[in-house]
Amino acid sequence: MKTFYIKTFGCQMNVYDGQRIDAMLRARGLTPTDDVSVADLIVLNTCAVREKASNKVFSELGRIRDHKKPDALFGIVGCVAKEEGANSFRRIPELNFVLGPQSYHKLPEILENPDARLLNVDLSGLEKFDSLPPVSESSVLAYIPIQEGCDHCCTYCIVPFTRGREISRPFDDVMNDVYAATENGAVEICFLGQNVNGYKNSLAKLITETAKLPTIRRIRFTSSYPTEMSDDLIEMFATQPKLLPFLNMPIQSGSPNVLTRMNRPYLLDLYLNIIDRLRAARPDIQISSDFIVGFPGETDSDFQQTMEIARRVKYINSYSFKYSPRPHTGAALMPGQVPENIKKQRLAALDGLLTEINREFNESCIGKTMACLIEGPDKTGKYLLARSPYMQQVIIPNESSDKIQNIEITAANKCSLRGKVLKN
Ligand code: 5AD
Ligand code: SF4
Repeated sequence: MKTFYIKTFGCQMNVYDGQRIDAMLRARGLTPTDDVSVADLIVLNTCAVREKASNKVFSELGRIRDHKKPDALFGIVGCVAKEEGANSFRRIPELNFVLGPQSYHKLPEILENPDARLLNVDLSGLEKFDSLPPVSESSVLAYIPIQEGCDHCCTYCIVPFTRGREISRPFDDVMNDVYAATENGAVEICFLGQNVNGYKNSLAKLITETAKLPTIRRIRFTSSYPTEMSDDLIEMFATQPKLLPFLNMPIQSGSPNVLTRMNRPYLLDLYLNIIDRLRAARPDIQISSDFIVGFPGETDSDFQQTMEIARRVKYINSYSFKYSPRPHTGAALMPGQVPENIKKQRLAALDGLLTEINREFNESCIGKTMACLIEGPDKTGKYLLARSPYMQQVIIPNESSDKIQNIEITAANKCSLRGKVLKN
């Protein structure tokens, strides 16, 4: 029996891709292993969003080359494969395959023809969705991609290059995945897309149809572009109780000047107005964001405006990154690249603020009861890890077997909550 090893980096979409590759290889009769030195097939499923992530892939490939079985096949899939293309073979000549995020369904070809080098970084649209085996893993939470790629062309972002122009999957194909997930035990559906609310076949309608399924208890979607938050989608937060009161809607920077240079041409007033309307629709909604600090030309005063908006919106569960120049992007060539030490200082200041806001929000949850998704036992087996409607981790004693539990929050710190189960 042949074995395979897969390691995935990057975003939720890439985690989904990793799951599909895993399922595809199992369907071919291969079994998974955690030990790279015994694997017959080794796949790194990669992320190119920041330079560090991208470089890590090649140092890891170098290590794998020295530890793998001599006849094991190894290669990369995902965004770094697309970023580097044929150049990957120059960097690591022993590589057997390089497959982009829209062509990894071709991976089995390397099993049939192990002596050939397999290179495919085409942006083949919906082809991969049509040629992958149906989702069959049992899971309480199902991630379902509804669109891929992005047309916004933010000047820092490599995604339009690695994942291509925006494509939306047909409504019925997505619903078929929802039905399959339900049959496999899902009680929560998370719709995925780089620009998920840009979905052309109505995300509001998808939410409405999915909410009709009695076994589905929680629905969410990620990641949203501010100006594509349509009225009917905002309305969903008022009318659809299964839609969680949590939205990831990255602002990236609080400075109008930086936003213009990022090619994110929305006005801050408009952005804040969208948040006001979301809060009017669903008063308990919380917003999360991604931030980039040290974008080319960012001054201290620009950065202070980012701090200001973070305080004002009180974002929870957010991520901040130092700007990292990427190939094929406009910002990499912009003047005014910010020195590393300033980026570091700004990142530390923003992280400190976001942590404080998180702690405050977590503490405000003490005494509240929340319907949480039970994800599974922790490493010790003594506790269960659950996920609140706001994506906080909740730790409870391991004495519950339901998939969703009402949990009373009893304690909080900056990164997690503790609670006790209430009888449903
Ligand atoms: N440098 C730093 N962070 C980046 N992101 C995307 N591109 C870059 C870059 N070049 C961040 C954005 C995005 C998240 C997925 O990664 O904040 O929302
Ligand atoms: Fe990384 Fe972006 Fe590719 Fe996701 S889409 S794997 S975040 S580069």
